[in-house]
Amino acid sequence: MTVTLITVEIREKSVLAQDIAGLELVAADGKPLPSFTAGSHIDIHLQDGVIRQYSLCNDPSETHRYCLGVLRETDGRGGSEAVHQLDVGECLEISDPRNHFALSDKAEHSLLIAGGIGITPILSMAQALHANCTSFELHYCARTKERMAFREDLQASEFSERVHLHFDDGDEDQKFDIAGLSQAPDPGTHLYVCGPAGFMDAVLDAVHKGWPSEAVHREYFAVDPPAMDSDDRAFKIKVASTGEVVDIPADRVAIDVLEEMGFDIPKSCEQGICGTCITKVLEGTPDHRDYVLTDEEHAENDQMTVCCSRAHSDLLVLDL
Ligand code: FES
Repeated sequence: MTVTLITVEIREKSVLAQDIAGLELVAADGKPLPSFTAGSHIDIHLQDGVIRQYSLCNDPSETHRYCLGVLRETDGRGGSEAVHQLDVGECLEISDPRNHFALSDKAEHSLLIAGGIGITPILSMAQALHANCTSFELHYCARTKERMAFREDLQASEFSERVHLHFDDGDEDQKFDIAGLSQAPDPGTHLYVCGPAGFMDAVLDAVHKGWPSEAVHREYFAVDPPAMDSDDRAFKIKVASTGEVVDIPADRVAIDVLEEMGFDIPKSCEQGICGTCITKVLEGTPDHRDYVLTDEEHAENDQMTVCCSRAHSDLLVLDL
């Protein structure tokens, strides 16, 4: 499967906060970039085949640039470190924007919640909601002021009265009341959360009982590497286009086995968070292990992330 890439040039690089670099990317050929919707991310292709996803944080009405905020993760897999080494004038290959964290057109009020670098898609959402004159409030939590990217931009924005900043090292009374989210929301309120896994889990735990699942939207940046469960079972995948049946052993990941068999399935995060490897399921019941599809999409069982998900049924027929 061929993926078309866009060549972009780094037009500007800045320090947004401690350990957070800002990059402004423009098309190397000077043409407009593909349009995007709030909550979208792009893949950045780095050296040695490393691919990383970063959310677009600029106003989605812009097509002359893509803006990113990238946190240097010292205990990460090296991608963010490589991005921090990039310089103005360098060219990069990126994917078209994709969106697995879109704003709902059913929302009458949006509660945007960002933890740390999770502000990037949330910032784009705030700009889109403001432009559409749609009701929203934004809660942004960071460890310290020094670690809070876009703080001054948010305080100077036209929607600054909707923005609430919370600091871990500040007074108790300014901290974000995650437990308060457990109360049922007003009808028509949708919640969007993005941030570190522990922060997201706390928010999602709080809203678990009181909120309708279709009103809760989340995007993970990174999760703990998928661990093989000792209860994982073997299953078979039938490739619809050829009829070939492939055995997936209990200790192997489907995409790895399919790759060895010569099937080229696009992949990126290999953690079930980016959606690159989503593949249509024509028959059988997947055992969803991803963080990118919604509960409703999981229930439909007509697509799966083959980088981490498995099967409840003995056989899956995939549209490959
Ligand atoms: Fe990212 Fe599968 S490669 S979800």
